[in-house]
Amino acid sequence: MHEMLRALTRMDAVQAPIVAVVGDIIRQVPGTISLGQGVVHYGPPQPALAAARAALTDPRTHEYQSGDGLPALVERLASKLRDENGIDVTRGRRIMVTAGANMAFIHAVLAVTEPGDEVILPVPFYFNHEMAIQMAGCRAVLVPTDARYQLKPDAIRAAITDRTRAVVTISPNNPSGAVFSETALREVNALCGDRGLYHVTDEAYEYFTYGSARHVSVGSFMDSSAHTISMYSLSKAYGFAGWRIGYVVYPEHLASGMMKSQDTILICPPVISQMAAVAALDVGRTYCEPYVRKLAEIRQIVLGALGRLAPLAEVPPADGAFYCLLKVNVPDQLIRGEGAPSVAMVLAERLIREHKVAVIPGPAFGMTEGCYFRVAYGALQKETVAEGIGRLVKGLRAILG
Ligand SMILES: Cc1ncc(COP(=O)(O)O)c(C=O)c1O
Repeated sequence: MHEMLRALTRMDAVQAPIVAVVGDIIRQVPGTISLGQGVVHYGPPQPALAAARAALTDPRTHEYQSGDGLPALVERLASKLRDENGIDVTRGRRIMVTAGANMAFIHAVLAVTEPGDEVILPVPFYFNHEMAIQMAGCRAVLVPTDARYQLKPDAIRAAITDRTRAVVTISPNNPSGAVFSETALREVNALCGDRGLYHVTDEAYEYFTYGSARHVSVGSFMDSSAHTISMYSLSKAYGFAGWRIGYVVYPEHLASGMMKSQDTILICPPVISQMAAVAALDVGRTYCEPYVRKLAEIRQIVLGALGRLAPLAEVPPADGAFYCLLKVNVPDQLIRGEGAPSVAMVLAERLIREHKVAVIPGPAFGMTEGCYFRVAYGALQKETVAEGIGRLVKGLRAILG
């Protein structure tokens, strides 16, 4: 092979897709319970499947359609955004349907940055956000959150430079499960407005909150429309992960850039999935409510069991999504030097090989100091999660004693 063919590319600096990396190890250890991947255990509502079946005989399904999304779906989303999110898309905003919220994110990054620009990510971040920023030739500027993984607006303010183009928030959060306070979200949104930055808000888990926690839509804030890019997903709410449907609400002045990216990467969202999505949205959020109630029970089991690991590990209360971020207090001698695999990665691999339970190590989310694991409890039945958490607790005690 010509040596030029092995030259470094932009991708060499991008972290490996951690869910696939952990998945490879899981496959080597049959019987592993995965608390790794962030998916739900249920599929789409029946009417969505019926709509997909009906779409098979509609010739339009097999053709390219509008890049923004099917008009029927865009209209349906406009009323959902108005009624549920308090976002009026008739005033200076556009909706675009994408093949998932991940695609919405990379479109947004490409549309608002130049190579070399900076995008602020509170840590822990969602790994695909950091990866997309890097792929776009930009720099993710990492800012800390507090001990409960809540936003620190002052830290965000302090990180702004003349290269900053956007601040990203995710609430409810992946990977911490934190639901950010409305006050902090308002402060960040106003800060972005004042400094001429975009506020990119990922609300893929909008329906997944517990107890008194409430999701708030950043795009509903007064005077947010010109600088707010809000993204949503059907993957979790409607058990639609494989159908690849998400959507983004963005300021009208970005339409040209957003369409260039959409046209190049996707041309149009998968038509059959969009037809299914219209039917899913007609069923509405009530579809996932019983599942969210079940997840609330599972969450109690998870937090209860992990709470008993103190002082070996701590888990700040998280009121949303279906994750928690466990901080493991490993002895200093186990912390490795620079360049060595992180202690979290080494422990994650041992937990799979020796205790048949998988979690995602913290460095994937920017948690490089100390030892953290994301525990995901959305994909499995209650009994399996309980068994998996039992293995995790036993495994950590056995390894760290
Ligand atoms: C915060 C966040 N955004 C986006 C996504 C991806 O969603 P989609 O399947 O719509 O691309 C995920 C999936 O885990 C997520 O956690």
